[in-house]
Amino acid sequence: MSADEPPLGARAPGKGYAGAPPPAWGSAPRAAGERGGKSLHSSAETIWQQVMALGLPSLASFSVEILPEIDSTNTELMRRARAGRTEPTLLVAEQQTAGRGRMGRAWQSSPGDSLTFSFGINLSPASWEGLSLAVGTSVAQSLSPASEEQIQLKWPNDLWWQGRKLAGILIETASLPAPAGAQERFAVVGIGINIRQRPFDANLTTQPAWLQEISPASSPKTALERLFAPLLGDLLEFERAGFAAFSGRFAARDGLKGRDVALSDGLQGKAQGVDHTGALLVHTSLGFQRVASQEVSVRPQTP
Ligand code: BTN
Repeated sequence: MSADEPPLGARAPGKGYAGAPPPAWGSAPRAAGERGGKSLHSSAETIWQQVMALGLPSLASFSVEILPEIDSTNTELMRRARAGRTEPTLLVAEQQTAGRGRMGRAWQSSPGDSLTFSFGINLSPASWEGLSLAVGTSVAQSLSPASEEQIQLKWPNDLWWQGRKLAGILIETASLPAPAGAQERFAVVGIGINIRQRPFDANLTTQPAWLQEISPASSPKTALERLFAPLLGDLLEFERAGFAAFSGRFAARDGLKGRDVALSDGLQGKAQGVDHTGALLVHTSLGFQRVASQEVSVRPQTP
């Protein structure tokens, strides 16, 4: 690790969860009710116990860390992987100073406004295609209220509420040293969810959505506790069965299907769902095009 990296929360040997001591959450005011048992810190043991109860040998070394501040939870888990530390880890940050989004973009958040975390785990699926869609599907299902209107998915990595971005996903992987199988990699699944309304941002054409619009009592803690165990289950399901296990659930929340879209690579057409690998299908003037690259952004055109 380089010398300028921020200190990590202490690990609790033999316990499996760890957290830096409370407060030091930064200078922004915290919402009433986020202290004590309602803070993210109290989630660590809850989640650790949920995971231990699964009794899976591959998760015996699972740990949860809640940090007051770090540059980026994804960056940190990738740093650890490069240093050979690939035990399954849930790393939650109350504040990221250099949060990262897809395609080199920044992910901005303030303490209490968002849930920002990464989960690192060794996985060996037959194919990695469609992982971000499976993750998005899992999180959307966990967060959706029991109402007609659903959180939707915007291929390939966003969660949407009423046409506005609610959450983003950044997945990175690192290869493992031999004798791991060819397909086995350390996957870092990073998720950022807007929880509270943020101040109006004149630089954005569309203001983001926030979870308290949907579930007014939501907090980073309630969101994390609601979504993490199902997410873990879905990652293991993805490892076993690939994107095929999620295609129906994804289709039910596909926010682009049937819409005119413009891609950052110049392609234009009507989005027609995804294929069995999770690639976006776009009907263009030249026929169907299959878009598999995650390095393009897709903009729906106004109806
Ligand atoms: C995107 O919308 O482009 C993806 C955003 C992903 C943000 C999360 S926040 C937790 C994790 N750490 C990061 O630096 N990024 C991801």
